[in-house]
Amino acid sequence: MTDIMQELKEIVGESVSSSPGERCCYAGDASQITGMPDFVVRPQSTSQVSRILRLCSKRLIAVTARGAGTGLAGGCSPVRGGIVLDMSAMNRILEIDIENQQVIVEPGVVAEKLNSALRPYGFFFPPDPGSLAMCTIGGMISNNSSGMRSVKYGTVRNYVLDLEVVLADGKVLHTGKKVLKSSAGYDLTRLFVGSEGTLGIITQAGLKISPLPSARKLILACFEEAEIAGQAVIEIFASGITPSACEILDRTTLQVLKLCDPLLAIPEDGDIILFEVDGTEQSTSEAAEQICQISQHTAKSVRIALGREMDSIWAARRLVGAAISRLDPSKTRIYMGEDVGVPIKEIPALIKKVQQITTKLDIPAMKYGHIGDGNLHVALFIDVMSEEQWQKLQLAADRIHRAAMELGGTVSSEHGIGLARAHYLPEQMGDEAFIVMRSIKNALDSQGILNPGKMGL
Ligand code: LAC
Ligand code: ZN
Repeated sequence: MTDIMQELKEIVGESVSSSPGERCCYAGDASQITGMPDFVVRPQSTSQVSRILRLCSKRLIAVTARGAGTGLAGGCSPVRGGIVLDMSAMNRILEIDIENQQVIVEPGVVAEKLNSALRPYGFFFPPDPGSLAMCTIGGMISNNSSGMRSVKYGTVRNYVLDLEVVLADGKVLHTGKKVLKSSAGYDLTRLFVGSEGTLGIITQAGLKISPLPSARKLILACFEEAEIAGQAVIEIFASGITPSACEILDRTTLQVLKLCDPLLAIPEDGDIILFEVDGTEQSTSEAAEQICQISQHTAKSVRIALGREMDSIWAARRLVGAAISRLDPSKTRIYMGEDVGVPIKEIPALIKKVQQITTKLDIPAMKYGHIGDGNLHVALFIDVMSEEQWQKLQLAADRIHRAAMELGGTVSSEHGIGLARAHYLPEQMGDEAFIVMRSIKNALDSQGILNPGKMGL
């Protein structure tokens, strides 16, 4: 160990630690899954990452890359020890190229910082996860994150044009060019997007950016039941409107929202769909009116948010996942079964199924999420001191995952597979597809040093 420490110091100077305190801080992400790294290393350049990986492949040391650690599936938890590569020091915006509508960034850039840098130019990077203020671009690419706006703007995958990647043996490659489209060769860029650090370490990214819309409007539609709300979403889409956000907040979520911001004037006696539309003043007014008209048939109430209310509602919405324990301090939210997704036609069926599962097992659940993408976050919360409740929770999460797969959906729409959902992947993908995935892993990381144990690889 001491000679490895010495070799790491030769590469990164003092940006390496093996102190128990620091290793503890890097044991996991925001899920319950942890593992203890032997070293925490903070590289500052591609050549340092390359030298580190050369060392690790020679000595067979596991390497787990990490951004801000906001993941929810154990993706950056170093479950086989080895090195945690903290990429947060590689945080420079290298180029803002407005004429080409592109930026080049290092992986440690925090998403919101990128947006702050782009705002003066009238541009933004659209993917908008709940953790926008903390999460890094590298983590977002590795998990193909999305969030509130993907219903109109797509996921991270739609914005990555080129990646600089360090392979397991230390070789460095680029996957694309500075062009908005290319049909040359296999799409290596997309291969690395969502690969959760199992194929290579991302050290630079070329991203497409979009012009900021000049106007936004938020519509709050309240429904008697979540299932009816799901139906209303289908009707809005069928009318040809594409909202820039389409979120469901069930009545439990509304209680939490109220605890986050008691001044919010939101109904609490139903389930809400938030529709946001963006564009010009005129186009958003028209679309908002149309949404009100269509949802009036099935909603208890529907209205357009006023003035600063829109920002307050979004701010509270970003907090709900973490704020749920305010409902009952004796219970803790456990991130399991929390990210399923189905084709949007199946949303009402998914909501019904989730309700049946949680009622039958008598587990409190808050349901919210990006319903316009068919993505439901089910927040199960339990008394963690009770063995019985843990067992029920595991059963509920398993049933929720299986319900999504039975409806033709996915066990993760945006949080990733990590370790939490690894055992579902062969089933969801099908054996043949999973074998292809494993062959790709073997081709790029034959020794299995990159984020070992993740995604069932
Ligand atoms: C959100 C995270 C949990 O939507 O994905 O808040
Ligand atoms: Zn989400």
